[in-house]
Amino acid sequence: MPSLQEATALLEQSLRTRRSLLGRTRTGVTRESLTRLAKMLSPQLSQISNLKSKIPREARLAELREAVSICHKCEHLAASRTQTVFGTGNPTADLMFVGEAPGAEEDKQGEPFVGRAGELLTKIINAMGLTRDDVYIANVLKCRPDMPPNTPGNRPPTPLEMQRCLPYLREQITIIQPRVLVALGKTAMAGLTGADQSMSAMRGRWHEFENIPLLPTYHPSYLLRNGSNTEKRKVWEDMLLVMEKLGLPISEKQRGFFRSAS
Ligand code: URA
Repeated sequence: MPSLQEATALLEQSLRTRRSLLGRTRTGVTRESLTRLAKMLSPQLSQISNLKSKIPREARLAELREAVSICHKCEHLAASRTQTVFGTGNPTADLMFVGEAPGAEEDKQGEPFVGRAGELLTKIINAMGLTRDDVYIANVLKCRPDMPPNTPGNRPPTPLEMQRCLPYLREQITIIQPRVLVALGKTAMAGLTGADQSMSAMRGRWHEFENIPLLPTYHPSYLLRNGSNTEKRKVWEDMLLVMEKLGLPISEKQRGFFRSAS
């Protein structure tokens, strides 16, 4: 159920939308009366929230996927994308990986992490004793960041693009309720939390997103560029932390991966 503060913010938001539709500059409604209204509506809000939680997660995700597929918040991205890239995996996953944005291959196939970085992510997931179907994989941005015509490669999403798209990821997380989140790379971590530190300063310890334990680690593309065992071991140590947090079995062999480098 939304808190009183969230309910007030919601009402404020809908009033702002109404105001901008009407072309007016002020709502003329005080914060106090909004808070009173939110209090009055509290039973109804709680009922809606209870009902929502009874709808199967698949159906809620399907509805959200539909909304994302017609999103035009970033006109330039809506114009350049082949399709939106919503997310893939288990709607009841305990573990959710969050990347920054789809690349060219993901834009073509409509699924996150299916290019070279995706192949490496799949290997990491498999090394944890899991499959892509056990976890959920999504990006902060649901559209491929546009590139000038005939330019190869990908660009990172801008803070504004991520800010506009974050509500969709937030809703995915609310629906899936993962026990652990992994942010892949500095940009994904910045998009999720606003953090502005280097990955070496952030990784290896737990952070939080909406009360969910969040572990940042290097993006698989970084490992593709810098494939030294020392860097691979760092990512693997992060995955061992994730496995411990989730209570997944860890074999001696798994504990030892890339250890020779350290
Ligand atoms: N990199 C990302 O961050 N996300 C993808 O889906 C693919 C590559």
